[in-house]
Amino acid sequence: MEQTLYFILLLIALCSVSECVQRQYYFINVQKSWTEAQRYCRENYTDLATVDNMNDMNEVKNVSANPNNYVWIGLQRTSVNEWQWSSGDHVLYLNWSTGQPDGRDDECAVMKNGQWSDVSCSNSQTFICNNTNTGLVFVNQTKNWRDAQSYCRQNHIDLVSVRNQNENQQLQKFINDSHISGDVWIGLFRDSWQWSDQSDSLFRYWRSNEPNGAGGNENCTAITSNDALRDWNDVPCNTKFPFVCHEDKLILIKENLTWSEALRYCRQNHVDLVSVHSEEIQRRVMNVVKQASTGAVWLGLRHSCTVGLWFWVSGQTVCYQNWEIDDSENCDSAVRSGAVQSGGDQRWISRPETDRLNFICSRNEE
Ligand SMILES: *[C@@H]1O[C@H](CO)[C@@H](O)[C@H](O)[C@H]1NC(C)=O
Ligand SMILES: *[C@@H]1O[C@H](CO)[C@@H](O)[C@H](O)[C@H]1NC(C)=O
Ligand SMILES: *[C@@H]1O[C@H](CO)[C@@H](O)[C@H](O)[C@H]1NC(C)=O
Ligand SMILES: *[C@@H]1O[C@H](CO)[C@@H](O)[C@H](O)[C@H]1NC(C)=O
Ligand SMILES: *[C@@H]1O[C@H](CO)[C@@H](O)[C@H](O)[C@H]1NC(C)=O
Repeated sequence: MEQTLYFILLLIALCSVSECVQRQYYFINVQKSWTEAQRYCRENYTDLATVDNMNDMNEVKNVSANPNNYVWIGLQRTSVNEWQWSSGDHVLYLNWSTGQPDGRDDECAVMKNGQWSDVSCSNSQTFICNNTNTGLVFVNQTKNWRDAQSYCRQNHIDLVSVRNQNENQQLQKFINDSHISGDVWIGLFRDSWQWSDQSDSLFRYWRSNEPNGAGGNENCTAITSNDALRDWNDVPCNTKFPFVCHEDKLILIKENLTWSEALRYCRQNHVDLVSVHSEEIQRRVMNVVKQASTGAVWLGLRHSCTVGLWFWVSGQTVCYQNWEIDDSENCDSAVRSGAVQSGGDQRWISRPETDRLNFICSRNEE
């Protein structure tokens, strides 16, 4: 009994360790066009800088401190600007109020009185998630669209989709019955801006009234220079500015090795097989595994039948979890190791350690 309590306390202590940086930024103080800067970063680092959140942005500001110039980051306008459901459902039905949508880009949808309007994704709204067991769930906390999406994905399935008139009525009835007033986020968004490394980060830090697409060719993003805020502006891509590259701490190795071979490879050439101990690292893993040539990709996740537990080979406790199937009970066959699916929901699965898969190493701190 005391031992169990001790174990639980130990878990709590281990699980509250703060996470380490997964991406390193480098300021290159040479003036290049956006495309030249992109090439330089891809040759020397991972890519032009991707920014996931305000912490990342502060890092970028620190490394590029005191430039008298705009500074390129990896965000570029594309020709794709269609409405999409967060869940990946096809958009077959739309129910805009009169005059909507009226935004240009970086827009997300809210529902009010059964009809939809587009607003800036950085607004704070309450929202509705979909849950497999309980159906619709109202979350009475205000968050921007991206954070609402993360919350739903972590705690339920995703932000709610509305695929036909029937579902729209069900949702409106739910809103009525739950006495929800005001606008709520639904899972609909559109965004023509894409990160150079294909990351799906929806973090944006635009200067007010930007991006304005002035002249029709402002298709690249730079950090502004003339005040402390250093927020973003859209500018023509052929302008020459210094820039910020990033290097991912995660590297996908596209060789088919058993789990033990993969572990040895990472420890010899980099640091270790990756530990996915937070949602943020899971998101980065999801970006990296898109390029994999096998259906699943090894993680540094190992099962011990003796204690009936999964653990990270880096020594961390498994706190954050993202299992598709956790077959901890399966102790009859080969030793099990953990992998992440490279497609679909990109959840974790358990595999015999003798399977041959691609894998992800964590890279050296410089
Ligand atoms: C900028 O993007 C817009 C919309 O995708 C496109 O029509 C235009 O040709 C692009 N301009 C340049 C200079 O690439
Ligand atoms: C909710 O999620 C389930 C499981 O993924 C799905 O079958 C259902 O269609 C979803 N419903 C809505 C309204 O998004
Ligand atoms: C929701 O409430 C509004 C206003 O009270 C009403 O007009 C509407 O018919 C209700 N919708 C549903 C689906 O219950
Ligand atoms: C949401 O929270 C606010 C303030 O805490 C409360 O006034 C409101 O009734 C809540 N709404 C619902 C639908 O529970
Ligand atoms: C690894 O396996 C996949 C799927 O079986 C295959 O397509 C790929 O070519 C293999 N890669 C190597 C380097 O052998």
